[in-house]
Amino acid sequence: MSENAIGIFDSGLGGLTAVKELVKVLPQENIIYFGDTARVPYGTRSRNTIIKYARQDAYFLLSRGVKMIIAACGTVSSVAVGLKDELPVPFTGVVVPTAIAAVTATRNGRIGVIGTSATVNSGSYKNEILRLNPALTVFQQDCPLFVSLVENSFIAPDDAIVRLVVERYLQRLKNEGIDTLILGCTHFPIIAEAIQNYLGDGVTLIDSGKETALYAVELLRKNKLLNPSSQEGACRYYVSDTVEDFRRVAEIFLDHSVGNEVSHINLEHANI
Ligand code: DGL
Repeated sequence: MSENAIGIFDSGLGGLTAVKELVKVLPQENIIYFGDTARVPYGTRSRNTIIKYARQDAYFLLSRGVKMIIAACGTVSSVAVGLKDELPVPFTGVVVPTAIAAVTATRNGRIGVIGTSATVNSGSYKNEILRLNPALTVFQQDCPLFVSLVENSFIAPDDAIVRLVVERYLQRLKNEGIDTLILGCTHFPIIAEAIQNYLGDGVTLIDSGKETALYAVELLRKNKLLNPSSQEGACRYYVSDTVEDFRRVAEIFLDHSVGNEVSHINLEHANI
C-alpha cells in the first residue's frame, strides 16, 4: 500500500501548488492529480453542487488505488466537510493545516483570510482559527476574480489589471492592520508576489497549498504510509477539459513541463 500514489484534487490548477511542495519534500512519492478543469470554478457554485463534484473527484482517485487523498482546494475543504468520514483512506483538506500555520505566524493577533465566495461564506478558516485561539481577530474577504486571473495567466505582479484587482479586494484588510494573510484558495499563491507588493513586507502570507502538503507528510508518517523507495516517484495528471490548456498553465505552477503525463477524463456522468 505505501507504494501506491497519493491522490490530490482541485477544481482546476490551484492544487498544483500542493503538488509542487509535496514533490519537494517527498520526491520518492508517486502522485495522481485530478484537476476538474471543465467545471472550474467551484467557488461560485451551490453547496450541493460542490459536494457532488468533490465526491466524484475523490472517488475517481480511489478508483486509481491511491493510499491517501488531499483536497487541495479551499472551496471543497470548506464546504464538503463530510467527505473525510466516508473515505476508506486518510484524507486532509487545506483548512486545518493552513489555520494552524496562521495562528503560529501572527504577532499582533489580526489575521486576514481570502478565498472564494463559497469558502468565505462558510466561515471555515475563521472558525478553525478561533477554535485554536479565541483571542485572535479574523477579517475575511472573498476574491472570486483571482481564480479567473490565474486560470487565464494574468499573474505578472506588475500587470496593471492584477494590481488593480489586488488593491480593490485587499484595501480593507490592509486598513485593518493585519500582519498575517491566509491565501485560502490554492490558486492564490500564484499571484502572491502582487499581493505581497501591495500589503508590504510586514504581512506574512500563508500558502494553503504548501501548508497542506507539509501536513500531509505528517499524516502519511502517522499512518505508516510513506513510500520507502529510493527511486524518484512519478506524477500522473488527469483533467476534465483539454489536455493542451492544462499543459500550458501547469508549467507556470510547477516550473517544469508535464509532458505526456496528462490524460483527459470525464466525470460528468460518474454514478456517485
Ligand atoms: N483552488 C480552488 C480553491 O482553493 C479554486 C477555486 C474555485 O474553483 O473556485 O478554492
